[in-house]
Amino acid sequence: MKNPVHVAVTGAAGQIGYSLLVRIASGQLLGPDQPVILRLIEIEPAMKALEGVVMELQDCAFPLLKGIVPTCDLNEGFDSASWALLVGSVPRKAGMERKDLLGINGKIFTSQGKAIQENAASDIRTLVVGNPCNTNCLIAMNNAPDVPKDRWFAMTKLDENRAKTQLALKAGVDVTDVKNLAIWGNHSSTMYPNYFDATIGGKAATDVITEEAWYKDEFIPTVQQRGAAIIKARGLSSAASAANAAIDTVANIIKPTAADDVFSVGICSQGEYGIEPGLIYSYPIKSDGEKLSVVEGLDINEFSQQKIKETEAELSEEKTMVSDLL
Ligand code: NAD
Ligand code: LMR
Repeated sequence: MKNPVHVAVTGAAGQIGYSLLVRIASGQLLGPDQPVILRLIEIEPAMKALEGVVMELQDCAFPLLKGIVPTCDLNEGFDSASWALLVGSVPRKAGMERKDLLGINGKIFTSQGKAIQENAASDIRTLVVGNPCNTNCLIAMNNAPDVPKDRWFAMTKLDENRAKTQLALKAGVDVTDVKNLAIWGNHSSTMYPNYFDATIGGKAATDVITEEAWYKDEFIPTVQQRGAAIIKARGLSSAASAANAAIDTVANIIKPTAADDVFSVGICSQGEYGIEPGLIYSYPIKSDGEKLSVVEGLDINEFSQQKIKETEAELSEEKTMVSDLL
């Protein structure tokens, strides 16, 4: 039996936490032979609710769950963690953009970044889900200068999954036939699902769905506004699909990417495709099971170039808004 891996999850008593924790504890995050210890971090007022979550986890009798540490102490919470899933933060309400949350949520990620640096295992990798996730990730990363910059991620996988499903529905194919679809930039209404590189059944998506107007007038806005559409319908932001995307993201990072596919995640840009270095920018990514690399050499047409710069501009603006936290 392998040694347990410590997985820290913030916002553990929230709605994403409720979907996410059972999936981690049942082996869906790190695999069916990898025991885990859950380190569940909450704020003080939510500790009572967290007690209930802990009872439910215990009542599942998961064979791989070797311990649960519920806490509102960040040092205890991130102690020995090899993965930190930063979910805890306030969700937006109808009518808000995600960046409107920066004033409330941004500061959470300064102390969390520091506590990760001071307490986590040397192989710590952090995935930020709490919004606005790219800039919150930027804040946490900058508050943990000793943790290598290639260990920080912001979640755009949910947007990729949404985009793939929209293409599959339009083409009348199974979602597994859609590949090579990456989200560029910010997890926000400026994100760019670059359909020019996507494939459907092995052919260019643009040869299968040939109506250009559909991509521009329906596909891109649907993907960009899907989070808002869910808030409008549910009165609450996405939770099960967000938890699912967090599980997918970690799997994408730790397993080699198939030759005919890519995945999306926000990483610390090193200037690829002319993007400002240091921003947390979502690119088409491949993993070799350990290291990630941005897919280089893609042909970026004029339309895509405009879109990838537009979302970069928003990230630069968000960075300026939080300059006192970096
Ligand atoms: P929620 O309100 O149901 O739960 C959030 C939890 O975080 C609460 O239990 C709260 O007590 C806790 N929390 C708040 N501040 C904290 C702190 N400083 N430390 C630890 N815990 C803290 O919200 P939710 O629906 O679970 O969503 C959480 C976040 O995830 C929101 O910001 C939401 O917008 C974001 N989100 C991101 C994506 C994505 O694709 N990146 C998708 C869905 C939701
Ligand atoms: C989502 O995309 O569903 C989340 O980021 C929640 C939101 O605010 O839209």
